[in-house]
Amino acid sequence: MAAPESDGPGRLISHFRNRDSKQQLSGWTELWETDQSDLWDRGKPSPALIEFIESKAEVLYNITNKYRPKALIPGCGKGYDVVALALHGFDVYGLEISETGVATARRYAEAELGEPTEYNYHDLNTWSSSDIGNVTIIAGDFFQKGWEPQGFQGFDVIYDYTFLCALHPSMRQGWARRMHELLAPDGVLICLEFPLWKDLTLPGPPWGLKGVYWNLLAMGGNGIINQPGEEEIDKEGPFRRLLYFKPQRSYENGRGTDMVSVWSALPWQFPDDTHE
Ligand SMILES: C[S@@+](CC[C@H](N)C(=O)[O-])C[C@H]1O[C@@H](n2cnc3c(N)ncnc32)[C@H](O)[C@@H]1O
Repeated sequence: MAAPESDGPGRLISHFRNRDSKQQLSGWTELWETDQSDLWDRGKPSPALIEFIESKAEVLYNITNKYRPKALIPGCGKGYDVVALALHGFDVYGLEISETGVATARRYAEAELGEPTEYNYHDLNTWSSSDIGNVTIIAGDFFQKGWEPQGFQGFDVIYDYTFLCALHPSMRQGWARRMHELLAPDGVLICLEFPLWKDLTLPGPPWGLKGVYWNLLAMGGNGIINQPGEEEIDKEGPFRRLLYFKPQRSYENGRGTDMVSVWSALPWQFPDDTHE
């Protein structure tokens, strides 16, 4: 997201000021309809995701060995990461709440899959000949059921970038619960953690997230924290962190602090009052 908070409240923060969790969806839809996606659009897929997918990491071994593993990108925006994963052999579902966003992503995917830009690859020579998966852009609300593909048995990969940080903090535990429901038993949730430089007490979006993923996923907390807690390896929570690393390349907005975390789901009962 582009607005520099050091210059005072950005356009995005002002737009969402005084909107509670029920008014978030209309907030995003309005931004799409008034052509303000420049507030978060970075113009290319995540270098950190591409590098990781091409790294042949052990945690991805069972997934990338499947024919056309299924990936989900919630809040996919224009669909840069959707296309990048499809070009690496995934069948990818991009989910967007805004119809305008959906139409924009479909147009982008059609053009980009026909003539992929180099920015979709880290190692162009090795990967540009990969089998290309299908792209499906779905209009729907991540928190509601019913948009999942037919015969749905869980996604092999879910990628979150600037989706959690876009949500009102009261929606965080609902995000974790939904991720848990949507992941296949042997699937992985990949998060490009951003923004980690931002003070947790400042308004968003983007909302500062340092320590929030750990609280939500490893500890089973509600993700509403004022300062990052200590990260411990053997906490009991809905997810186990399999990998945590600083990517060699990421977007400039990360100010050199972006981290990649990779999670698998554990058996877990979320509290009944988890908001969606
Ligand atoms: C900050 S933008 C990030 C877009 C994209 N990940 C990117 O990096 O360009 C957040 C996106 O999530 C979408 N969104 C917000 N809430 C959603 C929801 N509940 N279900 C699906 N999409 C949602 C918004 O319309 C917006 O496009």
